[in-house]
Amino acid sequence: MFPDLFRDDVFTLETARLFLRWPKAKDVATLCVEAGDRRVAESHAVIPHPYRPEDAVAFVSEARSQNLEGRGLYLAITARKDQERLLGVASLRQRPTGEVSLGYWLGVSHWGKGYATEAAQALLDAAFLYTNAPAIIAGVRVTNDRSRAVLERCGFQYVGSGMSQRPAWGDTVHTDEYRLSRRLWASLKGWRAPLPTERPEFRESA
Ligand SMILES: CC(C)(COP(=O)(O)OP(=O)(O)OC[C@H]1O[C@@H](n2cnc3c(N)ncnc32)[C@H](O)[C@@H]1OP(=O)(O)O)[C@@H](O)C(=O)NCCC(=O)NCCS
Repeated sequence: MFPDLFRDDVFTLETARLFLRWPKAKDVATLCVEAGDRRVAESHAVIPHPYRPEDAVAFVSEARSQNLEGRGLYLAITARKDQERLLGVASLRQRPTGEVSLGYWLGVSHWGKGYATEAAQALLDAAFLYTNAPAIIAGVRVTNDRSRAVLERCGFQYVGSGMSQRPAWGDTVHTDEYRLSRRLWASLKGWRAPLPTERPEFRESA
C-alpha cells in the first residue's frame, strides 16, 4: 500500500516547528511517561493502561515492522530543535477494508500548542502526495472534543457515528467517523493534486 519511500527509516517529515521520524528503541523511556498518562490512553483505542515498559518496546517494534512492510507509517513527533525527545506519535494505517486511517496522540504537556494539527497536516500531505488513497479516514470517540477539533482543522468532514472496539480496554465506545477526500484536501491546499485515476498507472490503454 505505502510506497518504498515510507519504508526506509531515513524517511522523515519536517514542518515549521516539528520533525517526524521513525520511532526507535531510545524512545521507550519517554513513551512510558507520555503514553503512560491515563489522559492520553483513555481517549485512544490501542494504548493500554497501565502502560508498562514492555508495551513501549512492543509498540516500537510493531511500528517499525509495519513501516518496513508498507502496512503503516508510524512516526514519532519531535521538535525540530530536539529531534531525540518524542512528544507524541502520528500514524497512517491501512484498515482491513483497505482504507487508510489517520491517528495521533501527544503527551499532555504538549497539548494546546497546535502540534497535533501541524503533524497531522504533514502526514496527510505525504499520504495524498505519495499514495493513491482517494481519501483518509479517522475515528474519534464522541467525547473527544480535542481530537475532533484537530480533524476539523485539517478539513475532515463528519460522515457518521457508530460503535468501535477499544482492544486495549476490552470495551466498545461510541465513535464519530470522519473523512478527508483527496479532492477536498487539494482544494484546501489551494492547488489541484492529480487524482489517482489521472496517474499513468491508472490510465486505460488506448
Ligand atoms: C488529540 C490531541 C492530540 C489534541 O491535542 P491538542 O493540543 O488539543 O491539539 P493541537 O496540538 O492541534 O493544538 C490545538 C490547540 O493549540 C492551540 N494553539 C496554540 N498555538 C497554536 C499554533 N501555533 N497553531 C495551532 N494551534 C495552536 C489552539 O488554539 C488549540 O487550543 P485549544 O485547545 O485551546 O482550542 C490530544 O488531546 C491527545 O493526545 N489526546 C489523547 C489521545 C487522543 O485522543 N488521540 C486521538 C485519538 S482519535
